[in-house]
Amino acid sequence: MVWAGRHVVLGVSGGIACYKSCILARRLSEAGARVDVALTRGAAEFVRPLTFEALTGRPVLSSLWEQGGALSHLRWGQQADLVIVAPATAHLIARMAQGMADDFLTTLLLARTAPVLLAPAMNDEMFARPETRDNLERLRRRGVATVGPEVGALAEGPSERPGRMSEPETILAHAARLLRGQGRLAGRRVVVTAGPTRESIDPVRVVTNRSSGKMGYRIAEAAWERGADVVLISGPVALPPPVGATLRRVESTKELELAVRRELPQADVLVMAAAPADFRPSSPSDSKRSRIDGALAIPMEPTDDILSATRGERRTGSVTVGFALETGDALAKGRAKLERKDLDLIVVNDALEPGAGFEHDTNRVAILGRDGTPMILPLKSKREVAEAILDAVEKAID
Ligand code: CTP
Repeated sequence: MVWAGRHVVLGVSGGIACYKSCILARRLSEAGARVDVALTRGAAEFVRPLTFEALTGRPVLSSLWEQGGALSHLRWGQQADLVIVAPATAHLIARMAQGMADDFLTTLLLARTAPVLLAPAMNDEMFARPETRDNLERLRRRGVATVGPEVGALAEGPSERPGRMSEPETILAHAARLLRGQGRLAGRRVVVTAGPTRESIDPVRVVTNRSSGKMGYRIAEAAWERGADVVLISGPVALPPPVGATLRRVESTKELELAVRRELPQADVLVMAAAPADFRPSSPSDSKRSRIDGALAIPMEPTDDILSATRGERRTGSVTVGFALETGDALAKGRAKLERKDLDLIVVNDALEPGAGFEHDTNRVAILGRDGTPMILPLKSKREVAEAILDAVEKAID
């Protein structure tokens, strides 16, 4: 995965958001990155170097004059794959914009060759100040990437204006995109559908299925990290929106079909990970039906097959990926669906296998292309499955 074996320098300047940098350092280390932390003097007042040392298992530097740290400002900045500064205070941003090199972190930033991601965090008035705006603008023009700040509670109270540092997960996603976003999906429009749909029986009751949306959300996340421009069309699920993707929420299979139709003319890739309801009540009631009316039989009609119904609207050269969740004989059924729905790839799994299918964090799938040879994957996390699917998409794309 993206972080394994990567060398990341995490620069931390002195703002209260430093406590979130501990989580960021931890997450990077857990993901397999080698994390070297550089603190400013202010940051070391908020969080002691020892904390980061314990979290990363590596020495932490905050001064140019530390024993054993000679030339580290050059080594770290020139050998790293990426430098993240989180939080980046107004003062750090100003010093960086001026090209100052008056402590370990700013010297490292000036000597670096690696790309830089800044996560600004400060009081909202400080962020709104033209001085800060100009400094950030100047850094962006020089190729420095930024994430946030976001609107939300600041240390001094709630705020409707930006100032709050982005959450560690958001910073990680932006950092990953910076590292990996030069692949074949970079700049492509990837449309992903996810989750179940719901069909009304009456104003309070619905017909739906057990899809959690996890597979589609992981694909949307991974595609965005690969540099794609991602639209995620989601049925009702209880998942946080993935970083970077444009989220369009839908309820019924009809709404999902309309949303897919709207996106198709711009889509380079369509990944239909959603599990649309295949049947809907033929005539939903306008009022709630009472239990005292006795047994209930609901006449149902099939919904449209979205993949088949929209096949004529696909862009030439685009890649279409379908899913097939079967119960037994999955490969043969998947192959038939690939043909019937005119797909480039189909991701097949068997709901009867342990750890596969809906509601799990793992999945055991086979990916079939037009040539029919299956790529059978072992049980993997849905995020790893997403990466394998996108590898296959990158191979199939023109
Ligand atoms: N799909 C679709 N429109 C539907 C139902 C499913 O586009 N109304 C898509 C799914 O998103 C998935 C693929 O078709 O990518 C296969 O879904 P599945 O439910 O297995 O296919 P069905 O056509 O419903 O086939 P069957 O019920 O015969 O198994």
